[in-house]
Amino acid sequence: MKIAVIADIHGNAPALEAVLADIDSQGIREIANLGDHLSGPIDPARTADLLMARNIVSIRGNHDRALITLAPDAMIATDRFTHAALDDRHFAWLRTLAPTRHMNEQGLFLCHGTPESDLVYWLEDLTAAGVVHRADAARIERLAAGIDVPVLLCAHTHIPRLVTLSDGRLVINPGSVGCPAYADDEPVAHKVETGTPRASYAVIDKRADGSTDVAFRLVAYDHVLAARLAEGNGRPDWARALATGWV
Ligand SMILES: [Fe+2]
Repeated sequence: MKIAVIADIHGNAPALEAVLADIDSQGIREIANLGDHLSGPIDPARTADLLMARNIVSIRGNHDRALITLAPDAMIATDRFTHAALDDRHFAWLRTLAPTRHMNEQGLFLCHGTPESDLVYWLEDLTAAGVVHRADAARIERLAAGIDVPVLLCAHTHIPRLVTLSDGRLVINPGSVGCPAYADDEPVAHKVETGTPRASYAVIDKRADGSTDVAFRLVAYDHVLAARLAEGNGRPDWARALATGWV
């Protein structure tokens, strides 16, 4: 049984369409989606329509939470743009999404950042100087304590990674469908740069013998179009990230 895991689409409808086509071409029917669906200066409304039209298990990311809890004046510019682009149906859908979720039949746990927070990095950590690196084993294990499922899914850092815990459980970040690089000021100024404009997601293959294969897919799509849409919406910073995978 194969399950596709997508995350951090960030309003990038062209990237999402390419990833959904790639999933469909493999005959995969089940999709788990880890949040930050719409916030981005590309095409938030079309992204929402694509997600709402399909049978996808979705949870809420920090930007999804901001869109339904903050007044537009209190939002960062990207969320404010996104808020203005959405209609009541889209907000109603966002309000249905939980921050975490179990998919019991598939043996999956879904969260955006960590099981406890949609803002904290799980598999990555930062130095005081803002260098992004893999988190240490003790920290990764601690955050997985008490969640008794074979596969734990997280997102938020946009960096594809699989970590095997000491008891054999897997923690998987599928990377980002729609935002391959960004800069952030919290908790210290840092950059995440995958170095490629490709759309990232993962395929989990639960085999009959009990083993689990994991594949990371890096899908080529019309990133030039996505960058042009961001540019047209007044975001040359996003345009560069989308065009190159670098900030
Ligand atoms: Fe996030």
